[in-house]
Amino acid sequence: MAEPFPRTPTFSGYNEPCRIEADVFDLEVEGELPSALEGTFYRCGPDPCFPPRLGDDINLNGDGMVMMFRFAAGHVDMRSRYVRTERFRLERAARRALYGAYRNPFTDDPRVAGKDRTTANTNVVYHAGRLLALKEDGLPHELDPDTLETRGRLDYGGKLQSLTATAHPKTDPASGAMISHGYEARGLATREISLQFISPRGELEREDLFLAPYVSMMHDWAVTARHLVFPLMPTTADAERMRRGGPHWVFEPGLDAQIGILRRDADPADLRWYRAPPCGVGHILNAFSEGDRLYVDIFVSERNQFPFIANADGSPFDRAKSTPRLTRWSFDLSRPAPRFEARTLFGEFMEMPAIDPRYQMHPYRHGFCTAVDRSRPLDVAGTLGVGWNTLVHVDVAAGRLDRYYVGEKTTCQEPCFAPRSPDAPEGEGFILAQLTRFEGHLRTEIIVLDAQRLAAGPIATIRVPFRLRAAVHGHWVPRSVLDAARA
Ligand SMILES: [Fe+2]
Repeated sequence: MAEPFPRTPTFSGYNEPCRIEADVFDLEVEGELPSALEGTFYRCGPDPCFPPRLGDDINLNGDGMVMMFRFAAGHVDMRSRYVRTERFRLERAARRALYGAYRNPFTDDPRVAGKDRTTANTNVVYHAGRLLALKEDGLPHELDPDTLETRGRLDYGGKLQSLTATAHPKTDPASGAMISHGYEARGLATREISLQFISPRGELEREDLFLAPYVSMMHDWAVTARHLVFPLMPTTADAERMRRGGPHWVFEPGLDAQIGILRRDADPADLRWYRAPPCGVGHILNAFSEGDRLYVDIFVSERNQFPFIANADGSPFDRAKSTPRLTRWSFDLSRPAPRFEARTLFGEFMEMPAIDPRYQMHPYRHGFCTAVDRSRPLDVAGTLGVGWNTLVHVDVAAGRLDRYYVGEKTTCQEPCFAPRSPDAPEGEGFILAQLTRFEGHLRTEIIVLDAQRLAAGPIATIRVPFRLRAAVHGHWVPRSVLDAARA
């Protein structure tokens, strides 16, 4: 008999597992879908199949569920499927959770010792005709872009040495090449970082391994047209602690953050490490190089952002110091000193950024993110302890914000940008975002906004006839790109 899920915050209300693999043909649309919006909006997030082995769990440990919303001729069809990881298949066969705590294999059922632990639950990206479900503790899983059927783990024909690949690979808009990294590349709590260069045709061209100063939760990173940026924050892993049943991550307030910078064409021996006081680093909006200057626009908090990560000194989670703020790091690479400037661009509580992907790695003006507007009701607890209630357009050049408050009893997720056309000016296009509404029964909507007029509200709202669990990241893939790969 199947056990019920615990009634803890990770598994209740908004966070209740959905577990539905759905096909819904022709979703209800309110308003007018732009005729230019032809393509697929992919999303990926954790949706646990079974009650946790240890009584409770954190959200990031759930099984990867990929959702797709296909926009064609003014209609939207949706599909959702679990990623068939080794873990998914073993637990489904056993009809129960066999894996224990988040990224701690010492808490697993002995039956799954040595088996792949990744859940592929963080991001879904499309590259070289492949749709990839990603989580930073394992290899990418390739899915069929139309059926979402899992094709298998991607190790580039056995060439990749790394056991991991980031959920945030970067595709160069100029060449179509993808650059990725994997930390803990040699296994649990190892210091090796693998740097992975994947050709526009999807072949692994080069992999370099190097040692990080310490094992850090490097969730996101930055790539510019000329440089690679590895931001290590003092959220560290320790195998001995895990062996004793402790957590994978602990924040060490006594340890500096370190930022590694390397030219894209250089050997890792040339890596230069810059130091900053201990801080929490989140996602990167964008980064670019100009001569000897390198700029990284990144969400930085004074301390660790995640309530589920403890401080090594035993101090309690500090809500005020966990607020992520968009910060510009400026590096003068001609100076030998390991110093750089950090300037807060906006004081607001913002994160989950998106940009016009055609401007990734290059000077840019427009960014998009979620925000917590504390002057409005906060109705839900998200992964950071509060729920997003506002979508924001950041004009980096003008220092201006344009916002759309999504309404009472509603929370929003990461925005996704879709250009109006392949040659439209930067930032001209649409923002897609997933909402959950709490009035009456919980339900999910996908809203479409004019990216340059967020405050005007949605131009179209797509209704999902049930509640989808919150996803983490996603991407828009234009129909022309999918058609070209099929051809
Ligand atoms: Fe992320």
